[in-house]
Amino acid sequence: MKDRFGRPITGLRISVTENCNLDCFYCHREGCPESSREMTAEEIGKIIGLAKEFGVRKIKLTGGEPLLREDIVEVVRAAAIPGIKDVSMTTNGTMLAGLARELAGAGLARINISLDTLNEGTYERITGKRALREALEGIDAALEAGLKPVKLNMVLLAGVNEHEVEPMIAYTSKRGIILQLIELLDAGGKNFTIYHRDLDDIEQSLRERAVAVRTRRSMQARRKYILPGGEVEVVKPMHNSEFCMHCTRLRLTPDGFLKPCLMRNDNLVDVLSHVRAGDISKCRSTFIEAVDRREPYFKKLVLK
Ligand code: 5AD
Repeated sequence: MKDRFGRPITGLRISVTENCNLDCFYCHREGCPESSREMTAEEIGKIIGLAKEFGVRKIKLTGGEPLLREDIVEVVRAAAIPGIKDVSMTTNGTMLAGLARELAGAGLARINISLDTLNEGTYERITGKRALREALEGIDAALEAGLKPVKLNMVLLAGVNEHEVEPMIAYTSKRGIILQLIELLDAGGKNFTIYHRDLDDIEQSLRERAVAVRTRRSMQARRKYILPGGEVEVVKPMHNSEFCMHCTRLRLTPDGFLKPCLMRNDNLVDVLSHVRAGDISKCRSTFIEAVDRREPYFKKLVLK
């Protein structure tokens, strides 16, 4: 199924809880408003089944922190159904060590772990918690459980971790992990201007060292640099019309609203109420409506 801009919808990014055990000062909270309702694993499964009818093949589970859900293994199982080719998760990894194997067994294929720094003090400054050791143990457990690939999400923050790109490349390369360098996205908070770090110079230096450069069209046209020892992806969403033009995902909030765009909350469509009422045809209409409301947030400026 394609939207009005010709973009196919192939992925559903599901926030399974708004709760988190960390408190990163820059977090966009997946752009979700606060809520009191939360989907059950069974309801998530039903919505995934519906999404599949409309061409969704990839499921990403995120939060808040998804591992805070006691039934997270059940949620993964509800996502890993025939027809869904790829079930992945974004987590801070601090609770992963004891769970990685079970998640893999339930059908989780790969994982993204948020890690902005390898320094204990900086980790606490960013997340508000002394939990670097737990996160690193989670990364080791993900590798041991055979989740593939393991990717680290590193959000670049001016004056905080911008000097840590090289140590992070060394850490990830050594372990066969892919490093994703992420540009800070303006989540509406006052921190954006202070901490925003342009990634252009970092990307230039990667380009010079790379043995190959790939553009991942289905992934918002993000660039992947194959270095002699490892792989680095660069995610630059801000004011990037290319990024939005290649967006192929719909989102689902923890309280069961289909969300056409990370950056907006004025166009959500309530699907959970219809799931709860058992009205499949209304559920289908909400999907069509949500896809119809999709619109690139950063558009190409056409100057006349
Ligand atoms: N800008 C860019 N990325 C962000 N994330 C959270 N908040 C922001 C933001 N303001 C990313 C983190 C985390 C993922 C779920 O979202 O890297 O890994």
